[in-house]
Amino acid sequence: MELTTQQLNESIYDATNALLFEEDYLHIKKSIDQLNVLFSGATGVKAGDITDEDIYLPNGKAVSTIKAAHCLKELERTRRFIRGINQAIECLSGTIQGRTLNILYAGCGPYATLLTPLTSRFSSAQINFILLDINADSLAAAKTLYDKLGLSTYVIDYVCADATTYKFPDDICIDMVISETMLNALRKEPQLAIMNNLIPQMRKDAVFIPENIIVEAVLTRWKEEYSSFTITDYQPKRINLGVVYCASREFKLPQPVVIQVPASETHNRLDLFTEITVFGREVLTTYNCSLTMPFAVCKLENNREDMKVTFEYVMSDHPGFTYKY
Ligand SMILES: C[S@@+](CC[C@H](N)C(=O)[O-])C[C@H]1O[C@@H](n2cnc3c(N)ncnc32)[C@H](O)[C@@H]1O
Repeated sequence: MELTTQQLNESIYDATNALLFEEDYLHIKKSIDQLNVLFSGATGVKAGDITDEDIYLPNGKAVSTIKAAHCLKELERTRRFIRGINQAIECLSGTIQGRTLNILYAGCGPYATLLTPLTSRFSSAQINFILLDINADSLAAAKTLYDKLGLSTYVIDYVCADATTYKFPDDICIDMVISETMLNALRKEPQLAIMNNLIPQMRKDAVFIPENIIVEAVLTRWKEEYSSFTITDYQPKRINLGVVYCASREFKLPQPVVIQVPASETHNRLDLFTEITVFGREVLTTYNCSLTMPFAVCKLENNREDMKVTFEYVMSDHPGFTYKY
């Protein structure tokens, strides 16, 4: 039996409440599954076998519609982002009295995963969206979803465009921009090119989500990392080498950074660690999700003397940090 629009929205409400307020992972997982069934049922886009193509852009890869749908299932990523965005909306709503909060979602994918759940908590008089994606199939799916769920009043516009060159409309005040177009260590996808284009267009008090992304160089040892997977509460011994880059609202593209690497008889893997502050205290740290998995840069075979490693970010169709020593 097909669910009515009201039943579908009640189901989104329940799942969203669990994502926002539950700490029990079984319950959270069930809620993600519930959203997945609902969104895939409405759009026909299933996070199953990947049979469609990524889009290669001058500033990095836009993942295919099915891959973008899969992002929903990254439990901790999705939960932390939705919690952070919920808080950011509550914070901003207090500052813009008497009008609707306008949110640009750059890279919304087929389900607009990071916003759709919040339609069950805020009315379309409170929040409106511009849903933007470079992938026409993803955008069409998002439109189908909003039509089927009776949520079209939330959407100011569906825009098929490249967020690295998109210009804000003149007649709409954008209060928040959301973009999650990244992999760990800011590789391959165009997060920084998107931030570089959109942040300078934002008014001073507007919020960018995620609020902060930090990439740090760390010397690790596989044995230590492995112990942390197998022994509860084990803190792996690591040698922190320093910040390679920090992206925030005061946005600047990465500059070359020289990192001092001490000699070590035990730790010879040079990694980049990524930490993402979505908003406030909603933070994704090491191993929380694929975006914060340590990225192994190289093995320092002759690590018997101190050395210097220079990291440089390359903005290209294959963006990311290069290194030399
Ligand atoms: C990692 S997926 C995230 C999907 C969804 N926002 C979520 O969080 O589950 C990234 C999305 O951004 C889109 N995207 C990537 N680069 C883009 C660009 N330069 N302009 C517009 N959309 C882009 C992709 O097509 C994809 O739908």
